[in-house]
Amino acid sequence: MEIISNPQELQTLCLMLRSEGKKIGLVPTMGYFHEGHLSLMDAARKQCDVLIVSLFVNPTQFGENEDLDAYPHDMERDSILAEEHGVDILFAPVRDDMYFDNHSTWVEVPDLAANLCGKSRPIHFRGVATVVTKLFMTAQPHVAVFGQKDWQQLAVIKRMVRDLNIPVDVQGHEIVREDSGLALSSRNVYLTEEEKAVAPNIQKGLQKMRDQVAAGESDAAKLKQDLAAFYAAAIPGSIIDYIEIVHPENINILKKVEDSALCAVALQVGKARLIDNLLIKV
Ligand code: PAF
Repeated sequence: MEIISNPQELQTLCLMLRSEGKKIGLVPTMGYFHEGHLSLMDAARKQCDVLIVSLFVNPTQFGENEDLDAYPHDMERDSILAEEHGVDILFAPVRDDMYFDNHSTWVEVPDLAANLCGKSRPIHFRGVATVVTKLFMTAQPHVAVFGQKDWQQLAVIKRMVRDLNIPVDVQGHEIVREDSGLALSSRNVYLTEEEKAVAPNIQKGLQKMRDQVAAGESDAAKLKQDLAAFYAAAIPGSIIDYIEIVHPENINILKKVEDSALCAVALQVGKARLIDNLLIKV
């Protein structure tokens, strides 16, 4: 496995690989790999000749009071794991190589970024869309694989690729969970033992909501209220950022669950902001 930090060097190499007819797969990450990241690498590996994983904690997607400086990292461990999972190139640029001091070009997908995480993290998706565009231009992938835990991020990237005619097949990969049901996240390291014991109730609550829908409840306000009450009891001390039921593709808020709907939640549990979701099909 080759480690490249210079974007220009990666781009030159990838343009050459493309001209040789090689199929390139990209898994964009912010590092501190867990089984979720590794499953994305495995999924991409099966479909391409050259697998590139980017490891870059992108500053432009973090708000002022967020955990940019505390974001966990372990480059040595990540490199070993990437190599074990068949990664050909680990692209690990430094901030100054990715953003010029006077960087002034942004990619925005406002329609899809207005709700859910976009509401409490107003600059987040602008940062994500911009860095993913830069990664696509640099790594020239045919296929890029993202986790469905960040469902809204995936929807934003799919819309961006469609709107800007970017020739990348953007694929979503199912959420990887601990046996307890807790969705894997690099931010789970912030949880104390006590918090980790109750955090699986995030997914349990979503499943209860799905059962309620299966039993005939379709009123989104009632479903959200019941889920909030469940979280207050089952995850004491947690702060709900949002509980929303939205259209899975356009992320518009739904009043009734009549067809396919995505229930997405974000909770602050101690120092960790945890997100999760469940697709409900009526
Ligand atoms: O999901 C992430 O880890 C990041 O948002 C991404 C897509 C790598 C962009 O920085």
